[in-house]
Amino acid sequence: MTSGEEILRMEGITKEYQMGDEVSVVLKGIDLSVNRGEFLAVLGPSGSGKSTLMNIIGCLDVPTDGKYWLHGNLIADEDQTSLAHIRSAEIGFIFQSFYLLQRQDAWHNVELPLIYANMPERKRKERVEEMLIKVGLEDKMFHMPNQLSGGQQQRVAIARAIATNPTILLADEPTGALDQKTGAQVMDLFHSLNDEGRTIIMITHDSKIAAHAGRIVRILDGNISEGAIEDA
Ligand SMILES: Nc1ncnc2c1ncn2[C@@H]1O[C@H](COP(=O)(O)OP(=O)(O)OP(=O)(O)O)[C@@H](O)[C@H]1O
Ligand SMILES: [Mg+2]
Repeated sequence: MTSGEEILRMEGITKEYQMGDEVSVVLKGIDLSVNRGEFLAVLGPSGSGKSTLMNIIGCLDVPTDGKYWLHGNLIADEDQTSLAHIRSAEIGFIFQSFYLLQRQDAWHNVELPLIYANMPERKRKERVEEMLIKVGLEDKMFHMPNQLSGGQQQRVAIARAIATNPTILLADEPTGALDQKTGAQVMDLFHSLNDEGRTIIMITHDSKIAAHAGRIVRILDGNISEGAIEDA
């Protein structure tokens, strides 16, 4: 793993929505470059375009205009099938509301992406166990989501997101559903994952949470600006 390698590049990314006769411009020409090993926070208020940007970074949506390279792949060139392929290889998603399968225990939630990745069973078992230990859930491996606290559920989601060793861990308001103490534990986990060399992009409206990142970019009304600007 070489740090300093550029793994994400955006040039002039725009996103527009047609609303009846009106065109609403949600992203207004975003330029962004992220290197391997960075812990980046994208900080902005509600409605600023954070989730829209995250969906484009995560190849869940395509921009109206502009260029986006993810790990050397020019994303606009890809069809839906290759997009899904790139997405599962490159991106581990973490959402505010965890999105665990409610009828599956922690173990099977973490195993699922490894099944999709065709990992052989024996290796899969080792990997699931390793991931659940890493997030501190060695004693909860066979608990169902509704037998886990919010913070524990988010840790299952993090174990699931990193299981396939994606290039980027992409988190949208990862502490949004958690109290302050539990949120801080999730941030501790992000720190240790970043120390291991994982690239993290975290989207948040909370400047205290953003302060955990090594680099902050602000998004306001669809425009991005680098670094610390005094709070409006
Ligand atoms: N499918 C859509 N059609 C039209 N407008 C949309 C669509 N999706 C998002 N928008 C608009 O784009 C803007 C940005 O939305 P987005 O969800 O990216 O904001 P956000 O920064 O994630 O906000 P929050 O912090 O509340 O999650 C909002 O004004 C929203 O109304
Ligand atoms: Mg959002």
